[in-house]
Amino acid sequence: MTRAPLPSLISTLKIIQINDISASYDSKSLVLDHVNLSIDRGTNYAIVGPSGSGKSTLLKLMNGMMIPSSGTIKIDYVAPNMKDKKFKKMMHTIGYIPQNLGLVKNITVLENVLIGSLPRLNKIQSFFKRFPEDEITEAKKIIKQVGLSGKEERKSYMLSGGEKRRVAIARAFMQKPTILLADEIVSELDRATAKEIMNLIADAQKRINLTAIMIHHDMKLALEYANRVAVIKGGHKILEIGVEGDTIVDFQTGDMTTEEIMSMYSDDSEK
Ligand SMILES: Nc1ncnc2c1ncn2[C@@H]1O[C@H](COP(=O)(O)OP(=O)(O)OP(=O)(O)O)[C@@H](O)[C@H]1O
Ligand SMILES: [Mg+2]
Repeated sequence: MTRAPLPSLISTLKIIQINDISASYDSKSLVLDHVNLSIDRGTNYAIVGPSGSGKSTLLKLMNGMMIPSSGTIKIDYVAPNMKDKKFKKMMHTIGYIPQNLGLVKNITVLENVLIGSLPRLNKIQSFFKRFPEDEITEAKKIIKQVGLSGKEERKSYMLSGGEKRRVAIARAFMQKPTILLADEIVSELDRATAKEIMNLIADAQKRINLTAIMIHHDMKLALEYANRVAVIKGGHKILEIGVEGDTIVDFQTGDMTTEEIMSMYSDDSEK
């Protein structure tokens, strides 16, 4: 007897495959130039690089807000494009936190977090924002997990920078995502708060095998939490590194020492 295939149970190790993509906002100059990336399921993948190097653009391409001018991106075999029906169906599995967090200022913490459940509601519930009791309970549970208990009814403009980031994370968790795309959510925070927020994400990674792709300003913090760090400069991926024991390993060329890698990055960050 031949066994029937079970495609729905098969998942690839590589959740994101980016092959030779270039991107442009004005169809003249490229802001990303022939970039390749391959991200394993469940990893914490960091992207660092100087301002204007194309980091946010890379995340927008993964989220389908932009499409590449050449090359291909696949997220679980699907090319991200917000206008495409097939991708729209899987969009709720991607939690995206933009650089400006994208919170609604004049509504409460709880209401902001509940926005993450909208893709699960029916059209009427979603239109009138009538959230079922179980979603409210779930939102409160997540608000507690991110350390905002007691602040459920506070308007989000009345929160500190660190608290706002926690709300954005809670809203993304509320989506029950398999991928989290986070654009500099720990930049400009003191180190202790930044680490608390990174730990929240690390916990979720252990709990639900979340794949996190995070843009950072701080290379040290990136190396502390990420399995891999891609360094983007001038639209090119110039390095891909990771920590193995007490050594920084260069996965892109395989021939650089830890000192060379760190000095290369310091030179960049001073420009
Ligand atoms: N909407 C846009 N229209 C035109 N050009 C844009 C747009 N957004 C970004 N750019 C340009 O594309 C390039 C890459 O921008 P991107 O936002 O990806 O950089 P970044 O690495 O995220 O920088 P930062 O660290 O400052 O956030 C920059 O030169 C920027 O000016
Ligand atoms: Mg950016």
